[in-house]
Amino acid sequence: MNRIRTVLSLTALLAIVFAGAAVAAPPQSGDPAKGEKLYAAQKCSMCHRIGETGGKMGPELTSVATKRDAAWLRAYLPDPKAVDPKNKMPAAKVTGGDLNDLIAYLLTLKTGK
Ligand code: HEC
Repeated sequence: MNRIRTVLSLTALLAIVFAGAAVAAPPQSGDPAKGEKLYAAQKCSMCHRIGETGGKMGPELTSVATKRDAAWLRAYLPDPKAVDPKNKMPAAKVTGGDLNDLIAYLLTLKTGK
């Protein structure tokens, strides 16, 4: 009897943990492949390096996803000066679904290539 009760409560616990993980997961609305094309079209690489490729005026973005999340990027990219008035990054001219795609791409950048 006790063993059944333990199994039941473990199952309940697992259900709660998984439900929590589903709520905490970031929304995956953007398309990273489209975002990578936007990154190239917007010339982000003029100033940013990913792996070995790109300029050095801005910080390296090789593992930017380990440092920044979707909410931060959404506030920052269209208006970097709103986050920090002394910021030297030019506003990204990307809006709506394109911004979702660009953010989705940046969130794939977790390690060096
Ligand atoms: C003219 C150069 C330039 C261009 C072009 C540029 N950036 Fe930046 N970016 C910067 C600089 C400089 C900073 C750091 C700003 C500061 O801290 O003052 C920065 C910061 C960032 C950060 C924050 C990184 C961190 O670790 O905090 C992200 C993300 C970013 N840029 C993404 C982009 C994307 C995406 C594009 C293309 C749409 C882009 N940048 C285009 C210069 C540039």
